[in-house]
Amino acid sequence: MNRMTRLLTGTLTALALVLPAAATEYRIAVGDGAGGTQEALGKAFIAALEEKSGGEMTGKLFLNGQLGDEQDTVTAAATGTLDFSIVAINNITPFSPSVGTLTLPYVILSQEDAEKVTQGEVGEKMIAQTIEDAGVRIIGWGYSGFRVLTNSKKPVSTVADLQGLVIRVPKNEIMIETYKSWGINPTPMAWGETFAALQQKVVDGQDNPYMTVYSMKFDEVQKYITDLRYIFSIEPLIISEALFEGLSDEQKSQVLEAGKAATMASAEFLRAEEAKIREELVARGMEITAPADDEKEFIEKATTTVWPKFYDQIGGVEVLNTVLTSLGRPAV
Ligand code: MLT
Repeated sequence: MNRMTRLLTGTLTALALVLPAAATEYRIAVGDGAGGTQEALGKAFIAALEEKSGGEMTGKLFLNGQLGDEQDTVTAAATGTLDFSIVAINNITPFSPSVGTLTLPYVILSQEDAEKVTQGEVGEKMIAQTIEDAGVRIIGWGYSGFRVLTNSKKPVSTVADLQGLVIRVPKNEIMIETYKSWGINPTPMAWGETFAALQQKVVDGQDNPYMTVYSMKFDEVQKYITDLRYIFSIEPLIISEALFEGLSDEQKSQVLEAGKAATMASAEFLRAEEAKIREELVARGMEITAPADDEKEFIEKATTTVWPKFYDQIGGVEVLNTVLTSLGRPAV
């Protein structure tokens, strides 16, 4: 070996010791566009994953449903053809009915409620149940805020105002029944089709948090917002259970720790950004209406008729009671 070859071999060996092997890049599906909670959660997760794995694991976000509609990405992760996905919890419910407890109207009444439930014992149970039912593991929780109602036709502040409007809802039975309790038959539709349906006036309105209305540019096709608080949108980050089980113990802890860090970052993101985004939507011409009489009519109709219909599906009324009592509210 001549001097040049020795030098080169030495340099390459030193470099190999310093640089980690090529990082594994995971594909992370994201239903929403840029600027919302889902993207913030995903970015925080990738940064934490790279840090905790010393650069050995990373991820790439595919925004705007590029890897499929939200409900389809849950199936893809379950069958192992997708690594991770960030979806609204209402799009997991069809595969794991017990998480429906968190989409029952007026159960989660604040961001604090959402954080408490997801990060405590209830959240742990839901994670275990979702693995069993749906083949995906929730490793992080995003928080998007209350789903406000938007429409292109008129200000809505009472249940009577809603009549005659065609409202898109996710393919989620609880949400469909909630609108029925308010006297209208909503239109169930996949998330990926919603913008076009609003634009082409196939439907008049929909509901989603301010952060989502903004990240999806709904202000371009919707005018009126009603500040409903019937569902606080929680957006889990899920990993394919098959992928998770194939990781080493060390990698599993790194993924779980990165998920926790992303959860914290998402809560902070909502606290810091929601009011600004609301103002921005008003600046872009949207008009906000408060529900009449502190939303009492909406609350009364939804809780009295919708809750009992879903006790069996969520695993019994005791599942709802565990959530309510963990939030310091009376059991039903
Ligand atoms: C939906 O309405 O289907 C979802 O809430 C969309 C989302 O994840 O933002």
